[in-house]
Amino acid sequence: MRRIIITGAQGQLGQRLVEQLSQRAGLQAIGLDRSALDISSTKSIEQALNHWTPDAVINAAAYTAVDQAENESELAHAVNAKGAGNLAQVCAKRGLNFIHVSTDYVFDGKASTPYQSDQTPNPIGVYGASKLAGEEAVHAAFQNENTVAKFWIFRVAWLYDSAGKNFLTTMLRLAEKGLPLRVVEDQWGAPTAAGPLAAMLIDCIDKPEQLASGIWHYGTAGPTHWCGFAQAIFEFRNLNVEVHPCSSSEYPTKAPRPSYSYLDPNPLMQALGKKAIPWKEELKQCLLEQAESN
Ligand SMILES: NC(=O)c1ccc[n+]([C@@H]2O[C@H](COP(=O)([O-])OP(=O)(O)OC[C@H]3O[C@@H](n4cnc5c(N)ncnc54)[C@H](OP(=O)(O)O)[C@@H]3O)[C@@H](O)[C@H]2O)c1
Repeated sequence: MRRIIITGAQGQLGQRLVEQLSQRAGLQAIGLDRSALDISSTKSIEQALNHWTPDAVINAAAYTAVDQAENESELAHAVNAKGAGNLAQVCAKRGLNFIHVSTDYVFDGKASTPYQSDQTPNPIGVYGASKLAGEEAVHAAFQNENTVAKFWIFRVAWLYDSAGKNFLTTMLRLAEKGLPLRVVEDQWGAPTAAGPLAAMLIDCIDKPEQLASGIWHYGTAGPTHWCGFAQAIFEFRNLNVEVHPCSSSEYPTKAPRPSYSYLDPNPLMQALGKKAIPWKEELKQCLLEQAESN
């Protein structure tokens, strides 16, 4: 039985990882929340890894409050940059394969064609900058240790799930009020469900030989804008909600958002011998699972 530590186990992705890992033959999930493993503390990392002696680690822990990060830069960097780097360093030293999850917000959104993993990032907010610093720290940790262990950084975007706090559940909650909604249509990206992402990450940990170390872009076939995402949610749920497209300037946020952040999933999918799932298909599946579980 190979033991896999999942940090941030109470988060959106962390919960899915623990749930799915627990059902995989030959793999044992050790889901640790912040109180059991605080990635911003090297002492906490060492203690948890000494105690659990894992075979691999998946880092699903992160500071994810994008707007709040503009006022809490130090905290965002302590978790997303230093924390990710420390965790990677300890894993590299111990020869443990390591997965780190990053974001489309490392890009400035000025592109008009799908972002490739070797394109130069240029974050426009504190959260994106802290995640980019985390990527660099993870990379450096594995290069400096000259280890046989592998590491993968998967950039993902617009993560949602059937439960928890995300765009899908927010739209469904707002729909209950029966009021017209205004949703931005000048930010483009790919809605990405946490379940299929978790399954891919577990495949990667299970069969590390199939993918080279480095940065990979994961996501669905897209893109769309937030307004299109909202409309599809209501359409699939047969909800009659009036949706009015609006521009980002009509819906100001503390942190600026990239206007185009579609990550090209095809190189990763080709390497895995798979095809990217259209975002609407993945959404339909997620809503179906949600309806079945209610
Ligand atoms: N959500 C998105 O749309 C999105 C988009 C692109 C990329 N991502 C990336 O995807 C990954 C997973 O995101 P998510 O949506 O699952 O985020 P999430 O729901 O906010 O979960 C993050 C988890 O990390 C925990 N955490 C925070 N600081 C920690 C620390 N110092 N040590 C250990 N755990 C800590 C949080 O615990 P507390 O609740 O105690 O703070 C939370 O349970 C992250 O790397 C994120 O940057 C997310």
